[in-house]
Amino acid sequence: MIHRSPRYSDRSILVCQGLCCQTDGSEKLLTAFKSQTPSDTKIIPSGCLGKCEDSPVVLTLPRKISYKRVSLEDVQNICNALF
Ligand code: FES
Repeated sequence: MIHRSPRYSDRSILVCQGLCCQTDGSEKLLTAFKSQTPSDTKIIPSGCLGKCEDSPVVLTLPRKISYKRVSLEDVQNICNALF
């Protein structure tokens, strides 16, 4: 079986699932991003992105724009702003 890792040139949204971000609701964010983003965008649950003080954190690729203290209300705006 061939497993293809996400390429950083692809349109992707990393939704941190580290402990701090999970404590602040990142599991619900992950679900929201999966349901609201276009099919050509990969939604990737990530490990800690190193910004726990700003949790929950989302990183968009390929531009490498990070968003801090993301709420469910921010999900659609983040998608619209990037693509
Ligand atoms: S756990 Fe999400 S940035 Fe550290």
